[in-house]
Amino acid sequence: MSSAHNRVAVMHGVNLDTLGRRDPEIYGTETLSQLEYRIHGYARELDLEASFFQTNHEGEFCEYMHRVPGTADAVLVNAGAWTHYSWAIRDALEIAGLPAVEVHLSAVDEREDWRRVSVIRDLCAGTVQGKGVDGYREALEILKGELAG
Ligand code: DQA
Repeated sequence: MSSAHNRVAVMHGVNLDTLGRRDPEIYGTETLSQLEYRIHGYARELDLEASFFQTNHEGEFCEYMHRVPGTADAVLVNAGAWTHYSWAIRDALEIAGLPAVEVHLSAVDEREDWRRVSVIRDLCAGTVQGKGVDGYREALEILKGELAG
């Protein structure tokens, strides 16, 4: 049974639907469904309730973000490549006004220069990168702390 203020919207952006077949040396071998199953379990262990969304369409991502305050208390975001340049998604996250954590499976700060830029980082309570699937657990722990206030 869920208690108040424990709902986390887990939002995956562009190309994350290809996990499992996309450069496994960088992104691992798990599919998005397998990843979501793991996140669901991590959330349950932390007494959080996770819901999931993925799209390859930036406008849909923004529109979902607009609705998130009605359905969740916090946001865990892996916006994929949008992280590095989408001011629209940054604005949508700011409009949502919820505690947020940025996650990346890979170590974006150690890859190409363009991946080192995140236009959402300063809106987030934390960033977890380069820890693969386990990084999502760490991100949920940060959000749990934010929700406990
Ligand atoms: C990613 C890193 C991004 O640079 C990339 O565009 C992705 C995935 C990650 O999880 O490591 O799509 O966000």
